[in-house]
Amino acid sequence: MRIIRAKDYDKLSKKAASIIASQVILNPESVLGLATGSTPIGTYRELVRMYNEGIISFKDIITFNLDEYYGLDKGDKQSYSYFMYDKLFNYIDISKNNINIPNGKTDDIQRECHGYENKIKKSGGIDLQLLGIGKNGHIGFNEPDLKFEALTHLVKLDKETIDSNSRFFSSIEEVPKMAISMGIKTIMHSKKIILLASGEEKGKVIYEMIYGKITPKLPASVLQLHPDVTVIVDKEAGYML
Ligand code: F6R
Repeated sequence: MRIIRAKDYDKLSKKAASIIASQVILNPESVLGLATGSTPIGTYRELVRMYNEGIISFKDIITFNLDEYYGLDKGDKQSYSYFMYDKLFNYIDISKNNINIPNGKTDDIQRECHGYENKIKKSGGIDLQLLGIGKNGHIGFNEPDLKFEALTHLVKLDKETIDSNSRFFSSIEEVPKMAISMGIKTIMHSKKIILLASGEEKGKVIYEMIYGKITPKLPASVLQLHPDVTVIVDKEAGYML
């Protein structure tokens, strides 16, 4: 694992965006795996800036998002689909047909999950996957468990995840209890991975992910086995390193 320490959130975002931008410049037909949550917002802002300055184009880029809340329509303001358009897709030249996000409103979970896996495979696999990390060590919505769930699947969200994500909703009751998420194998098959962590509350889990035992009880620990992972932390998230 390569560890990059950034001075603050702004520098972290700029470094992450620069890595994604170089991927896009080197291969304008790259397949990018994208994350939602607070952490990548600055990275997306930087990518939009680089697009506006004519440094990068997303014309032939394909994207796959990690996850989506189960039961939310893509037009719902709380959906991850809405988030992605609001933070990135509305401001760049990506083709709508190249954007892939699990359908939270599917009436056939099996078909949705298989279909998502097949689409990733058909596109040639993910070249660069962007990840955040939950305080409980989740990546995507792969929550701590007794085993690693391999492929895209329906997940029951942890109480801690529901609590943490309630900050985006007007009440905790509104937070969906389930989500569709890429599995650990799906993520591990990405050619390159960047994981971002910001803030002191992520410090302990970042330390355990890098130096602890590889265990499904801390799903991100599996990244120790991936040959090309870059972890970017700000000063606070890196305080134990
Ligand atoms: C989001 C995702 C999650 C988040 C994680 C951290 O698509 O898959 O694993 O990356 O919950 O969220 P933030 O960045 O809000 O702390």
